[in-house]
Amino acid sequence: MCGIVGAVAQRNVVPILLEGLQRLEYRGYDSAGLAVVHDGQIERQRSTGRVVELTAKSANTNGQIGIAHTRWATHGVPSERNAHPHLSKDKIAVVHNGIIENYEALRTRLTAAGYVFTSDTDTEVIAHLIHTHYVQGKTLLAATQESLRELVGAYAIGVIASDNPDQLVCARRGSPLLLGIGIEEHFIASDVSALLPVTRRVVYLEEGDVVQLERKHYQIYDAQGKPVTRAIVESEMSNESVQLGQYRHYMQKEIHEQPQALADTLESVCNSQSLVPGIFGAEASAVFDDINHVLILACGTSYHSGLVARYWLEEVAGIACTVEVASEYRYRTSVPNPKSLVVVISQSGETADTQAALNHAKSLGHTHTLAICNVAESALVRLCKLRLLTRAGPEIGVASTKAFTTQLAALFLLTLVLAKQRGRLTAAQESAHLKDLRHLPTAVQKVLDLEPIIAKLAEQFANKSNALFLGRGMHYPIAMEGSLKLKEISYIHAEAYPAGELKHGPLALVDKDMPVISVAPNDALLEKLKSNLQEVRARGGELFVFADADSHITEAEGIHIIHMPEHAGLLSPILHTIPLQLLSYYVALQKGTDVDKPRNLAKSVTVE
Ligand code: M6R
Repeated sequence: MCGIVGAVAQRNVVPILLEGLQRLEYRGYDSAGLAVVHDGQIERQRSTGRVVELTAKSANTNGQIGIAHTRWATHGVPSERNAHPHLSKDKIAVVHNGIIENYEALRTRLTAAGYVFTSDTDTEVIAHLIHTHYVQGKTLLAATQESLRELVGAYAIGVIASDNPDQLVCARRGSPLLLGIGIEEHFIASDVSALLPVTRRVVYLEEGDVVQLERKHYQIYDAQGKPVTRAIVESEMSNESVQLGQYRHYMQKEIHEQPQALADTLESVCNSQSLVPGIFGAEASAVFDDINHVLILACGTSYHSGLVARYWLEEVAGIACTVEVASEYRYRTSVPNPKSLVVVISQSGETADTQAALNHAKSLGHTHTLAICNVAESALVRLCKLRLLTRAGPEIGVASTKAFTTQLAALFLLTLVLAKQRGRLTAAQESAHLKDLRHLPTAVQKVLDLEPIIAKLAEQFANKSNALFLGRGMHYPIAMEGSLKLKEISYIHAEAYPAGELKHGPLALVDKDMPVISVAPNDALLEKLKSNLQEVRARGGELFVFADADSHITEAEGIHIIHMPEHAGLLSPILHTIPLQLLSYYVALQKGTDVDKPRNLAKSVTVE
């Protein structure tokens, strides 16, 4: 949510800033801006819309030090006046990701002190605050540190001053920021993908860190202002992994990357003959011995993976499981169970609601915590005792795809490890599950081969305004995920129901204009589901059924059957996700929406 990039170098940094913004655009894309110091002045360019507009405006801008920002609006509408960087008296320029909660009080005070606000943002108070200290003779670093003490909320910031062409100051608390280490040049960015064209050597900043960067030198200060050293790490992210390659959209690329993402996530397990708790961390065995309940906290697509896991955990591991939407959990009075394993699931590891829910769980006395996450250095991973990293690789498309299926794979591993530790998994069952997991990437590839059929099917959705998704049992959350995908990228209103619930209300919506998409694996609930589908057909609803080869549902007028290549037993939710992702993607193409950057959304939701 909002992307920051900054640089201090001997060369013109504007192309570096613009390239970095392009790569961070998934974090927010309603406006963008940059500021550089040139001949003792701050030169600023801003534009609404995409980075490409800013690039066009910045053709004649250059400077050897600069900061840039791509925005997802929180305070103030998306407009040029609200786009970052924000200036104070043309002397200080600031970019910011996060939310300043006490900005109104600060704004009132600064206005009384004579500062004129030119935007509706919370960020502008930071620029003016730094200015008040800077003009009293403090260094840019000291003025920033002094200002940060007054801020309540979350931030990652980059700061430059017109009369200081050599120093860039940055800081983070609650929002991600890292340093890029070049040869006699230094950078800052919200994530490493922004810096891959210039460096792979990065320093992940800790909460409360403030940094003074110069061309040849940088110094990090911790939250107490003490100089500290943080490790430089070589990022493993490859430039290719964030390039589109042969694909039209990142979402399409990421859908197709799922066999590899699953193989990578399962690699260590599939190469061994048995499952060990150690894959979740050194303390996992002791923790798993001490639990009698699993509490899963997550948002959006990650929440849906938790819902599937509940079926697995209760059925296979015999352990009670509750799944809560993270943004709700912390605002209700719940009864803590010290023997719960609190599992947070997140692609980014940055989601503010999930972080807050985890902190709330800890404040209630929960000590057994596990993060299932796709970003190793993220806040959620650091905050948890145990972790399992999904290895989906960077996910750029706002609609989550490969992160979801790899989360499911990780949660299935959790299920098996807990089942084994609780004496509910025989050696024969364990080896059968491992065999299925080894086969999973191949099975997913076979489903991807349905792409042309699904692309054709999508044509029938282009003029629809609504859709219903049905599933039963552990495929109900898959119906929910299918419905979320369709809403997110095609803007078609969609809802998901457990199929047995139809007759309790939603059946009233069914007529010839209501497509009903059904997930119909050959499981214990299939016959019940078939009856539910008849209820739809009898009301003239048009059915699109994703059935297993052996589900024995026959094509007829108003009933379109898409046969899945094989039935995957307990892993079936992973396979049944794929055609729904493809369907949403091709419907969005039909509708001509911006698939990778759907309106009003951003990839990492770092605000509440
Ligand atoms: O990074 P996270 O997994 O914590 O993100 C949670 C949700 O914001 C995310 O899954 C969102 O729902 C996706 N856009 C769905 O495609």
